[in-house]
Amino acid sequence: MRRVEVAPTFEAWREVAREALKDGYRPEEINLADATVPVSGLLTLQAEDEPQGAMVARPHVPKEFLERARSVAAHREARRWNLLYRVLWRLQSERRLLRMELDADVAEFGRLEQQVRRDLHKMHAFVRFRRIVDEDGEQFVAWHEPDHRIVPLAAPFFAERFAVMRWAILTPDECVSWRPETKELIFGPGVPRETAPQADELEGLWRSYYGAIFNPARVNPKAMRAEMPVRYWKNLPELTQLPNLMQKAESRVQSMMIRQSRQPTAAPFVPEEHTLTVLREALPRCEGCDLFRHATQVVPGAGAAHAALMLVGEQPGDQEDLQGEPFIGPAGAILRRAMEELGIDAEQVYVTNAVKHFKFVSRGKFRLHQNPKMSEISACRPWLLAEIDAVKPSVILCLGASAAKSLLGGTFALMKQRGEPQESTHARHVYATVHPSAVLRGADEEGRAQLYAYLKADLATAWAQVLKCE
Ligand code: URA
Ligand code: SF4
Repeated sequence: MRRVEVAPTFEAWREVAREALKDGYRPEEINLADATVPVSGLLTLQAEDEPQGAMVARPHVPKEFLERARSVAAHREARRWNLLYRVLWRLQSERRLLRMELDADVAEFGRLEQQVRRDLHKMHAFVRFRRIVDEDGEQFVAWHEPDHRIVPLAAPFFAERFAVMRWAILTPDECVSWRPETKELIFGPGVPRETAPQADELEGLWRSYYGAIFNPARVNPKAMRAEMPVRYWKNLPELTQLPNLMQKAESRVQSMMIRQSRQPTAAPFVPEEHTLTVLREALPRCEGCDLFRHATQVVPGAGAAHAALMLVGEQPGDQEDLQGEPFIGPAGAILRRAMEELGIDAEQVYVTNAVKHFKFVSRGKFRLHQNPKMSEISACRPWLLAEIDAVKPSVILCLGASAAKSLLGGTFALMKQRGEPQESTHARHVYATVHPSAVLRGADEEGRAQLYAYLKADLATAWAQVLKCE
């Protein structure tokens, strides 16, 4: 019988198996021995017979087999290499073999696969990272002792979950580390148990609630609350920190989601419940794009909770940023004047902005307004959509290009289409008009008058629609 040593990886087995099939080795003519298992006793050298099977140059390897074999290969059972070869060999003529669950080989194949899967779930759920700070900065290290050799199988899960962190998982058989800069998984040999990190700034926290902070996969406050009523928490000393920890865990998860997604977005910060009170309460925590960093505060929309008309501006200006209310500066004055002249009932209007933080550049003691980028408008759109959902206006009027881009698409041509009804799912009637601050910036008296006339005419159209809807 031919004996071939197989290094303990799926890839190594695949190489060997491919060669053996090509040469026509029947399973009983070849022994695929596990290279990590020491050979006991003396090896008797045997004359190698010519392989007797048919040579298979282009083996039939069903995808299902390949995927499941990858799991089986991670099992510690030394005989797995022979089993895998036997199943692969038989698949060449028995195409439906994997469906025959009572077959001894198939049953064994399934059993090993199951055990590896279970071990994998365990690893995903129980790996606990410890934070270590060294000269390269922050790094997260975990020590884990899986039953099987599952590090390569488990690694992609962690790479996806913790894409922006530098982390390493050490096990006695093999190690893997992740470099967020290059998005690379680096595999290496195992380490002795003593090397597992002991220093642990978060040890205390883990003891009270193991790993909630760095295991977003397990943070499920709803399920946790369901399982343990809040009134019992105080009686469980190790859980007194839970609400606090959960909050940290949630925001940690949120900021990881943000950093992981290439596009900035407010989505993870927007509560599921779309009522103005809930939205208002959550808004100050938004870090959906970079604009929150420099602004004084976030500026939510204001007005009647079920207003028939919603006016959507661009972003808060200097005054709005300082006072936390939309349209209270010079642009707001223009808007109010037009509304008053038209007899629009302010009680039936809700005003908000496409972007909720002020974007500016500092020039001496002034802060100059800057147009938000399309990516910032998109990032903030979830808030606007949630507000629309809360208020359910029958008419929306976009003030200026930014609001129009947010609700009517990036290519909306404001001056061509202003005042005309737009196709939209956001409300029954959606219009766009010039921004009140454009009126202020008009080139000359005549230009400003013209722009003001546009604004007023389009406001009148929108208001007429509101009165029609009633
Ligand atoms: N301009 C806007 O678009 N919104 C405000 O809230 C103020 C000025
Ligand atoms: Fe969040 Fe909008 Fe502010 Fe960006 S501008 S941080 S998305 S609220």
